[in-house]
Amino acid sequence: MEPSDISKEIKRLVDLVTHYNECYFQKGISEISDYAYDQLLERLIRLEEAYPHLKRPDSPTEGIGERPCFAAVDHQTPMLSLAKTYSEKEIAQFVTRIKKMVPDAAVDFICEPKIDGVALSILYEHGHLVRVVTRGDGRQGDDVTRNVIQSICLPQKIQDAPCASFEVRGEAFMSKAVFLALNSERQAAGAPLWANPRNITAGTLKTLDLDLVKARRLEFYGYSFYAASYSCATQAAALALLDRLGFAVPSTYKVCSSVGVIMDYIHYWAQHKKELPVDVDGIVVKVNNLDQQRMVGMTSKSPRWAIAYKYQPEMAHSILERVSFQVGRTGAVTPVAHFSPILLAGTMVRRASLHNADEIARRDLYLGDTIFIEKGGEIIPKVVGVDSTRRNKASKPILFIDACPACETPLHRTPGTAVYYCPNSQQCLPQLKATLLHFAHRKAMDIHTLGPKTIDALFEAKLVQNVADLYTLRYEAVSRLEGFQALSTRKLLANIQASKTKPFDRLLFGLAIKQVGETVAKKLALHFRSMERLQRATEAELLQLPDIGAKIATCIVAHLQDPYQQAILNRLQAAGLQFALPEAAPLPLDHLGDSIAKSQFSSLSASKKFVISGTFQKFTRVELTTCIEQAGGRVVSALSAKVDYLVAGAKAGPSKLAKARQWEIPILDENELIKMIQ
Ligand code: IVH
Repeated sequence: MEPSDISKEIKRLVDLVTHYNECYFQKGISEISDYAYDQLLERLIRLEEAYPHLKRPDSPTEGIGERPCFAAVDHQTPMLSLAKTYSEKEIAQFVTRIKKMVPDAAVDFICEPKIDGVALSILYEHGHLVRVVTRGDGRQGDDVTRNVIQSICLPQKIQDAPCASFEVRGEAFMSKAVFLALNSERQAAGAPLWANPRNITAGTLKTLDLDLVKARRLEFYGYSFYAASYSCATQAAALALLDRLGFAVPSTYKVCSSVGVIMDYIHYWAQHKKELPVDVDGIVVKVNNLDQQRMVGMTSKSPRWAIAYKYQPEMAHSILERVSFQVGRTGAVTPVAHFSPILLAGTMVRRASLHNADEIARRDLYLGDTIFIEKGGEIIPKVVGVDSTRRNKASKPILFIDACPACETPLHRTPGTAVYYCPNSQQCLPQLKATLLHFAHRKAMDIHTLGPKTIDALFEAKLVQNVADLYTLRYEAVSRLEGFQALSTRKLLANIQASKTKPFDRLLFGLAIKQVGETVAKKLALHFRSMERLQRATEAELLQLPDIGAKIATCIVAHLQDPYQQAILNRLQAAGLQFALPEAAPLPLDHLGDSIAKSQFSSLSASKKFVISGTFQKFTRVELTTCIEQAGGRVVSALSAKVDYLVAGAKAGPSKLAKARQWEIPILDENELIKMIQ
């Protein structure tokens, strides 16, 4: 390498490492895997050692070792790790081994979800929470008390514990729902997305920015109780004790008396873990009886009485083969990495999102690079890192495109964001097709026979160009399409016909107005009650509605005033779609059952906040949320002292119930809620 190239490379590495450091330490975001970060840092250190005269004064290697001031604390009992396996056979061997070590007694095991978060030790003295420490190296961790008490709702004072001083261990995590909500806010703002809930949890616990900590909602599941003067008889009893003391514990644990039952549990949760509110990366199998645990003992690294069965790894690496650019419904262009297929969370993956242009520039991607792919929250795989150290000299950098890959219109950049979009919304094929698909969505017009393939065929045959064209489709034309027989044609046309009766709020959602999701569409429908009134609304009027901000208001007005969209709306109205809520029905709640549908909703104050927990007999949680929102209240997910009501059903979170009682928040069941709204 020429000295100027070395100098450039050092500058690139300094910028990258500085960027990732800032993200991690100031904003609490891990944008890159630890491995990829270490590789970058190591390469920078090596270059600086070889060429000390090229070392930059602003190099982050100057600050290595100067971690932000989280005091190091020795653990009273080492925080060991768990033996891990991906093999069912090794679980069977573990069970056999334990049974041999406890020959004269029956051995029960307890299976628990292995929470993919950050291990914490929480110390209580004389009933007061005094310190929270990370696992660190197992002997010594960092004191993160300040950040934990600001971001996690934990019992601060416990009076009815079996002893005054004790330690609770467990896992801090960010729920998938919070992670997704925060990430979609970031996406809307054009900010880089977080890789997964675990990274953001670790970052939040270690950030110095307290405001940021307060804004992140983390949770904690307890799994161990340690005290010098008290011991539970079994792990199941320890979990029950933690629950009683006000800690959340994973409710899915199960005591299993044979290897067959353990395997059933492992298989069941392999299928169902995606339904859990938190990322679970495996199952921990433990000896249930604590005396038997002591008898079996531990090695210097891990207890012999437990083993973690890990599900397929969720991050893997592959070789970048090419990058394509996809145009979405709003015209936003998303770069997609294509790579040699890898097995990730049980599925073969060959494509992953690269988010946006800034992300490509920052990651400095070249064809043939080794990239790291992760399935964050098990949704769309993402590229989370790149190892540029093994780069082939001849390979080419990936550059973001400047024209739409579908219609070649020059791209625009959304001001203040990293998102490029194609402005040709009236002719760009992928945008038109995606708009149609959205219109047919189950929660919009529910035309379930109108899938991507049918939409492709309709466009190909030039039978449709926009949603209004659906209502002019004729049997003869559709039945001539490839793959369409009499039955499928009739079904499609019948579904389209039936969509005309879908309520006004669903039509509004289906129109794909930027920033108008299902909830906003419902609010607009309820408030304005007809398209005519909504079309007359000014931005200022829209801003009067709760939860409608300037951005949403601008998008609504722009869409409804656009002559192209107005022409479509006129045709939809002429076709007989629902352009108003029916006079007789005060709310689009017909599916909620008589007691609600017939009620006149008294207005709850918009400042009334509700938390819903558990399962209900008459309504789903979504329905209860709709009820509360339609009556003017707000539903939030985290219980804090500022919440006005807890709506609790069967299996409501015990810690939520305990906290509601502690903060004297009224607890309602579903009947009481409905009565109150009525
Ligand atoms: S028991 C001796 N139970 O997995 C270790 N650990 O290496 C006892 N983890 O970071 C740990 N869920 O924080 C246990 N239900 C569970 C767990 C769990 C997650 C974490 C733990 C540690 C790692 C084990």
